[in-house]
Parts: sequence; C-alpha cells; structure tokens
Amino acid sequence: MGSHLCEKLLDEGHEVICLDNFLSGRKDNIRHLLSNPKFELIRHDVQQPIHLHVEQIYHLACPASPIFYQFSAIDTMKTSVYGTINLLELARNCKATFLLASTSEIYGDPLVHPQVETYWGNVNTIGIRSCYDEGKRAAEAILLDYHRTYGVDVKLARIFNSYGPRMFQDDGRVVSNFVVQALQNENITIYGDGSQTRSFCYCKDTIDGLYALMNSPYLGPFNIGMPIEATVRQLAESVVRLVGETKSQIIYHPLPSDDPTRRQPDISRARALLNWSPKVSLETGLTNTIEYFRTKLATPDAENSPEKQELIRQQTRVREQQERERKLQLKREEELVKAFLEAEAAKGNQ
Ligand SMILES: NC(=O)c1ccc[n+]([C@@H]2O[C@H](COP(=O)([O-])OP(=O)(O)OC[C@H]3O[C@@H](n4cnc5c(N)ncnc54)[C@H](O)[C@@H]3O)[C@@H](O)[C@H]2O)c1
Repeated sequence: MGSHLCEKLLDEGHEVICLDNFLSGRKDNIRHLLSNPKFELIRHDVQQPIHLHVEQIYHLACPASPIFYQFSAIDTMKTSVYGTINLLELARNCKATFLLASTSEIYGDPLVHPQVETYWGNVNTIGIRSCYDEGKRAAEAILLDYHRTYGVDVKLARIFNSYGPRMFQDDGRVVSNFVVQALQNENITIYGDGSQTRSFCYCKDTIDGLYALMNSPYLGPFNIGMPIEATVRQLAESVVRLVGETKSQIIYHPLPSDDPTRRQPDISRARALLNWSPKVSLETGLTNTIEYFRTKLATPDAENSPEKQELIRQQTRVREQQERERKLQLKREEELVKAFLEAEAAKGNQ
C-alpha cells in the first residue's frame, strides 16, 4: 500500500520521504520512484525516533499479513506502540498532520454487522493475532491521547481488506494466496468452509480514501473499505474463473485461531464527510492483480528467497500449533475449575 501512496502523493505534486525497514515490504515496489527528484527513501525502523521537517505523516509502517506479524509478533507490537509514539513526536515537533492506518482487525470477531465506527470490537487479547489487533488498538489510543494532550492534528483510518498489485506472493493473504495458487496450477486452499466473509477493496481506492481523509478537516475514525461482502469461497471461484486455464481445485483446511467470521464496513461516514467510496469492482481489481502476478511469477524475486519464505512458513506453523496447545490447556484448566466449584457446592449442600 505504501508504494501506491507514494505514487499518489507524487502525482498530486508533493515531495515524499518514504521510511521503511523492509521487514515485510520490498524495495522493488518503489524502485521506479528512486530516480524522481521529489522522492527520497530512508531505510529506517520507526521503533527508533527520527528528526525531519515534514508537513504530513502517513503512518502505514506495520506488517499487515498474519504470516509476517506472527513471525515477528513482538516487533509488530513495538512498531505499533513505539513507532506510533515516535512518529507522533515528529508530528508534534514539526506541527505536521498525522494519519494512522489502523485496521478493521480492531473490531476483532465482530458482534455488530456491518461494522460501524462506533463499535468497540470483540478482540482476543492473548491470541496469536493479538500482537497486530491489540497493537493497532494501542496505536489508536496513543493517537487520540497525543491529540488531546498536545493538540496534534490527527486522522484515524480503519482499513478493511485491501489488495492489488505489489502484494507479496507468499504472505498468506487470501487474495494473493488464491491468485498465485491458481496461476501455478496448485490447489486453492480455503481455511474453514469458505463461508466466512470479507470485503475486498482495491488498493487505489484505499489510497484515495486515505488521501481524502488527510486533506479533510475531520479526525475520524473512518472505515475505509468495500461495503460489499463476499464469501471466501466466492472469491476463490472468481479467481479460478478470471485466471482462465488452471488445473487448480478448491480444497479445505482447518480454520486458524481467531479468524473472524464476518467482515464488512459501514462506510456511511466516509461517503458523507469525505465524499469517498470505492470505485473499482472486485472483477476489475482481481483482473489487475492477476496480471501483476502473472508477470511477477515469470521473473525471479531476489528479495524474497525460498529460504526466507520457508523460515516464515515454519514459524507460522509453530505459532498455530502453540495456539492449539494453549487452547487445549485452557480447556483443561476450565474443567478443573468447574470440578472444583461443583465440589465446593456439594460441600455446601451437606
Ligand atoms: N492491506 C490491508 O488489507 C490492510 C488492512 C488494514 C490495515 N492495513 C494497514 O495498512 C498499512 C500498510 O499495509 P500493507 O498491506 O501495505 O502492509 P505491508 O506489510 O505490505 O507493508 C507494511 C510496510 O511497513 C514496513 N514496516 C514494518 N515495520 C516497520 C518498522 N518498524 N519501521 C519501518 N517500516 C516498517 C514494512 O517493511 C512494509 O513495507 C499497515 O499499517 C496495515 O496495518 C492494511
């Protein structure tokens, strides 16, 4: 998303300083911008403070795919907490406007549908996704406290599933997973029975939403996403149809922990106050994404070695296994507590 944002800002005539530690991003995605005199790249980890003179800060730094944030869970939390504080300090020092790219994950497995900005969420605080979900919730709290305490001009966007060209081919996000599997004639893996829903917003639309918010007088929060729900199974079927000649079959695997069952934004606020809504249909967005991956798969990716991919996959498998064991342990403990309470009640009755 950051590379699309940099392009948008340059197109609008801004000068851009892009910070990235390349944990989950690739230099390849912004290589074409490096020769632009209005573009500057600094390899920097936002967990460390930085001093610059800027007018606006878009804070998108944070691994966003479950595979990456489970691989670097503590780092993810630190990026959301220390990173947000450091960049808010920068905004405070240079009186810059600050936009936080938060996420629909702050709603957790929502009990309100579609999700409105006034909903506080239903989040597991100790699961394997918590480093991301709770990290972003902490970032939101810090954002508003900098606004209240120091008067920093802040903007809060909650992004729902966003996809498009330049995604990592192997980072476990559902759109890139399905497209790459279909293009490589591998089976398409659906976790669960595929009835869980997501709303898929094309990256250009998401970036236009962030830009509209940054240049508006409003603070938010604003949901930025596609207000149309699709099941994961429908997505898989669309990908198979749009890829065309593929030998891939759709297969089903167990659902990972804390995978939300429904996700759909209510974007009435963004429509009314930012005059924003997504323009790109899922069909068009998927077609563009498929074309991107078709080209990408035909060229070797020096920044994404098979060894690194395997390491990340292994780590994810370990995390999932640890989570399954922890849930069993929790269940055993609950049974012990129940037995204890029953024994106590029986004593009371004697
Ligand atoms: N894509 C989505 O569907 C989605 C949905 C909700 C929220 N968001 C948010 O939008 C932002 C961008 O998402 P994305 O999909 O482009 O994710 P991404 O993982 O592709 O990009 C995140 C970028 O941040 C960089 N980064 C990570 N930690 C950093 C650190 N400590 N210092 C400097 N750079 C760091 C990564 O190297 C990468 O380039 C994230 O904050 C994410 O939480 C994205």
